[in-house]
Amino acid sequence: MTNWWQNAVGYQIYPRSFYDSNGDGIGDIKGIIAKIPYLKELGVDFIWLNPMYKSPNVDNGYDISDYKDIAAEYGDMAQFKELLEACHKENLKIILDLVVNHTSDQHPWFVEAKKGKENPYRNYYHWQNATPANLPNNWQSFFGGSTWTVDEPSGQAYFHVFAPEQPDLNWKNEAVRTEIYQMIRWWLELGIDGFRLDAISHIQKEPWNFKIKDNPWAPFMNVAGIDNYMKDLQQIFNEYNVMTVGEASGVSSKKAVNWTDSEGYLDMIFELEHNVRKGVAGSERIDLLGFKKVIARWQKDLGKKGWNALYLENHDNPRFNTILGNETKKSAKALAMMYLLLRGTPFIYQGQELGATNYPFQTISEVDAKDTLSFYHRLLAENKSEAEALQLATSWSRDHARTPMQWDDSKNAGFTTGTPWLKVNPNYVKINVAAEKEDPDSVLNFYRQLIQIRRQEETFATGTFELLAQNDPDIFAYLRKGEKQFLIITNISQKTRKLTLPKKIWQKNWQSYITNDKTAPKKLTKEMTFAPYDALLFVEQSNS
Ligand code: GLC
Ligand code: CA
Repeated sequence: MTNWWQNAVGYQIYPRSFYDSNGDGIGDIKGIIAKIPYLKELGVDFIWLNPMYKSPNVDNGYDISDYKDIAAEYGDMAQFKELLEACHKENLKIILDLVVNHTSDQHPWFVEAKKGKENPYRNYYHWQNATPANLPNNWQSFFGGSTWTVDEPSGQAYFHVFAPEQPDLNWKNEAVRTEIYQMIRWWLELGIDGFRLDAISHIQKEPWNFKIKDNPWAPFMNVAGIDNYMKDLQQIFNEYNVMTVGEASGVSSKKAVNWTDSEGYLDMIFELEHNVRKGVAGSERIDLLGFKKVIARWQKDLGKKGWNALYLENHDNPRFNTILGNETKKSAKALAMMYLLLRGTPFIYQGQELGATNYPFQTISEVDAKDTLSFYHRLLAENKSEAEALQLATSWSRDHARTPMQWDDSKNAGFTTGTPWLKVNPNYVKINVAAEKEDPDSVLNFYRQLIQIRRQEETFATGTFELLAQNDPDIFAYLRKGEKQFLIITNISQKTRKLTLPKKIWQKNWQSYITNDKTAPKKLTKEMTFAPYDALLFVEQSNS
């Protein structure tokens, strides 16, 4: 392996909910510094921090009003430098969120742009002549509603693929690119280790008269012409030899090869297809077969050239132990084994390593996420009852993942001495770091073990991937072949399942490496029976 990140494990920190050092109810930089020992014990190699830049917080920091400063609630630049130094001292790398598709409407560029058509910053954004009754087109934004917000005084509207408070930057304007590239260099000069590129596949748009056929997001997803901008970015990243991971919806697994091979724009991208849902609205779950097919396709398509970023959860999605597991320790461990041993660079989202579950919302006042709130109000307007609207709007809400990190069983899970900005999941009395550290059978200790195994066994980084039991709706099983050969079998269901293994598997001599439960089978046989959420790792014994 030539690149450090190919053998690394990452950890995503949502700073607002990680650890609050001063009792204002909001996680902060000092809080992250205080928890470096925890991250080292877990065994991760780098952290990705969600945005901590100056922001009016309409979209929790994804609406940036100053790219080169830290929001006061998190600390300041001096503290950020302290964090960087403290991490580097411990051999922990840091990558930051880079949000350059849009700014906040409070960013000085937009404040200027809004002043009028003649303002030199007007062209930093996308403006078109419009009235409320006559918008430039019918495109819809990701957060609901038109992509256009009318500015009556000027008789024009500006464009945004997310909230109206997040106007999209005009990448066609060279002045914009120059400013953005300069800002990126400024952070790289500080010594950070890379970026997660937010919404990067949206920076190029189709002409405004483009007609939408089936996919409503087509006019701003990986649109032709984006390559020029990506090449510019690639050149900067290469100069600094940093790690980059893109959030690039619309980049298919086939196209991802060019994005992520040794000549690619980025080192890896997050696929955004794996949340294949089944069931009725309001109580949907992940369909394992659909999920598995997506993962296997990405493994295959990036098997020789290109590289995968592996993840289950992030700050935008519910908790996997609820939507694919059954909220037990055992299912959390099975999910960990299922994805942590795939080919690629794994990311763990804070709390996932504890087996965190969704939050039991009782009232809409417990919700912060803007998209969930707007969905809720739309449902009320459609005459749904409050209870029904709450269920439908919150079942897949991003806030499930944003509740505070659960450190111990003291008040507010030890996250804050004040009032947390978002409520703590009541299950913190059981699911918390302090308790799990002490328990050798905890989800936390299982994650630690898997991370170590990944590091010790080079095959997990370099080996090939082969899916087994391809069409099985409950079982996710695969082989990793390199210097050694490993077999991973997980029963991702509540059912007791029987499986007949193919001869090429059972005729080999396998030894149990670890299982997620004492009762799980330790011996590999042709016919096997698995209890719900059994997960097994075998290694092939050499004949010597
Ligand atoms: C990405 C982020 C999400 C944010 C959006 C707009 O999808 O992950 O949290 O709301 O971009 O910046
Ligand atoms: Ca704080």
